[in-house]
Amino acid sequence: MITSNTIQQITNRIDIIDVVGEFVKLKKRGTNFIGNCPFHNEKSPSFTVSPAKEIYKCFGCGKSGNTITFLMEHEKYSYVESLRWLAARYNIEIEETETSPAQKLAQQVADSLYAINNFAMDFFAKQYWETEAGESIAQSYMQHRGFLKPIVEKFKIGYNPSDKDSLAKALIQNQFNPELFAKTGLVVERNGEWQDNYRDRIIFPIHNTTGKIIGFGARQIAKNDKSPKYINSPENDIYVKSKILYGSYFARTSIDKLNECLLVEGYTDVVSLHQAGIENVVASGGTSLTIDQLRLIKKYTQNLTIIYDGDAAGVKAALRGLDMALEEGLNVQLVLIPDKEDPDSYVNKVGPDAFREFVQSAKKDFVLFQLEVQLKEVGGDLNKKNALVNQIAETLSKINKPEDFTKLQEYVRKCSSLLRIDETGLTQLVNKFKRDKIVKEEKKMSYDEAAILMPSFPQGQEQQQDTDLFTDKDLAHEKNLVKLIIEYGNELTKENKLVAQWIFDEIESFPLENEDMVYLIEAYKKWFYAGKLPNGKTLQYHEDEKVQKWVVSLFEPDHELSTRWNEKLGKPEREDVKDIINEIEIGLMYFKLRKVKKMISQNQMDLETAPEKEQIQLLQIHKHLKEVERELTQGIGTVIMK
Ligand code: UTP
Ligand code: MN
Repeated sequence: MITSNTIQQITNRIDIIDVVGEFVKLKKRGTNFIGNCPFHNEKSPSFTVSPAKEIYKCFGCGKSGNTITFLMEHEKYSYVESLRWLAARYNIEIEETETSPAQKLAQQVADSLYAINNFAMDFFAKQYWETEAGESIAQSYMQHRGFLKPIVEKFKIGYNPSDKDSLAKALIQNQFNPELFAKTGLVVERNGEWQDNYRDRIIFPIHNTTGKIIGFGARQIAKNDKSPKYINSPENDIYVKSKILYGSYFARTSIDKLNECLLVEGYTDVVSLHQAGIENVVASGGTSLTIDQLRLIKKYTQNLTIIYDGDAAGVKAALRGLDMALEEGLNVQLVLIPDKEDPDSYVNKVGPDAFREFVQSAKKDFVLFQLEVQLKEVGGDLNKKNALVNQIAETLSKINKPEDFTKLQEYVRKCSSLLRIDETGLTQLVNKFKRDKIVKEEKKMSYDEAAILMPSFPQGQEQQQDTDLFTDKDLAHEKNLVKLIIEYGNELTKENKLVAQWIFDEIESFPLENEDMVYLIEAYKKWFYAGKLPNGKTLQYHEDEKVQKWVVSLFEPDHELSTRWNEKLGKPEREDVKDIINEIEIGLMYFKLRKVKKMISQNQMDLETAPEKEQIQLLQIHKHLKEVERELTQGIGTVIMK
């Protein structure tokens, strides 16, 4: 792990204008800089970078964050990769914390596997380009299939000769550790000696998203029914099949730009499409998509287009990933290649332009496609139809993100029409599946989340009283309070108390409810009580991404409730401590008032159902709460007037 000392050094050096400016053309505008947003297509710039606050925000698409989240979002780096990138840029030496012996060993194994793979890749390329067998067997095979030199070089495709141990010998000669040979799958031990495993095969190196070689796919050249057409690397410390999409390294920028990811089955499909200039394409290796692969795609785009040959097996495999894709909020389209062709052979047959046009015109919505196929199977059988309706409702219930509700409504409309059933009926069924799921997950979930999910799509439950639930308004109040703590926690009150401590004392009997705000404040407290004097800037670079994310979003321009108050009161931007205390007093009172109102409403509900003997006590509580409410309301009035 990178030490916090190094992280500190890095974050101290960060210049957001310099880093973002590397990827976006920025112009100065007042105290900020603006440019065209790199996250969505726009003609007039709405991407704003604030050097003072060290954050960016796009007023077009809403993306926002700090320097590190920018690198994570734009370059798809992990948190640690972003830190390393910055350290390299600012010439900061990275100090790592003591790792456990087990961690060290794991790191060493991974590094050695990468080294062996790299060596093997170069070896295979050399065999492909520089040997006689390479030329007469491998090159001529690839040429015959229409793969030209530039594309073979780009994908670092190579050749493993047919001799029994040419790679094995080279590995031993170069003193790689034989204990790891078996893990790579490149060579196998037979009768006490190491032999090549991918003999007489074309080798497709598999890059991970950052370009490291994690494994290989090896295709036979001479047709031989005794061995499989492709052999892939075995699972090991760096090759985890469920997390890999072949081609992702070469496709990432194109997927980002076109906001669409094409998914095909095979290695050769990816390479052929690239050669045809279609670069936003990855391959799953013919198996059904895993959740990790879907998430990998989602890092780049929401729009997934699956292009498979029309044979039943492939399509069935692809269909299996559908529900997960919906849950992840992906828009999935399906294209079936006709006439027993696959994308590779089809693009070679019809050419790039016709292929593109075909994909555009043949795209079918995945859900509706599935429905059409199954409707044909159902025929007139009522039982089967019932089962299908249920199945579709369950599938649709997976569309659960608030921003996807219009999409869901659209699906319900189309599916009910295809099924010839009543739209409201289908809606109710979808809601039933949603509720069932919530009930199942309730134990795992906080009340807040359940409350937000429940009155969902499309006809809400009966209108709940505003104060019964934790609403957006409550959240806004909690956010504002947390923001005040972070912004002014290190100032001193008249009584020489740190502002954060003062607020903590004040809200002791009114705890925060929103899970994220609680999380953020706990992180704050950890630093605060360790004497670290946390503030908005340092917390932005907190190790915990969740903390980072919330700090940044709190300080986005549109959340600046506190400064808006200042504007209203006509105060200068740089407030003195007295104004700050005044502002916090107001914030606190609003916060408490909100909580008290909720307590009153809860108490009233209890009153309605309480047995007589408890009613007197509840009435007293009611009186007391009303008293507090009045005091707070008056207080807000006088403090604002001050
Ligand atoms: P295909 O049999 O469709 O091969 O398998 P392909 O990609 O079209 O290859 P060419 O054009 O015949 O050379 C699709 C994918 O399934 C995996 C590979 O990832 C392959 O690209 N596969 C197939 C295997 O892993 N092993 C096999 O034996 C066959
Ligand atoms: Mn093929």
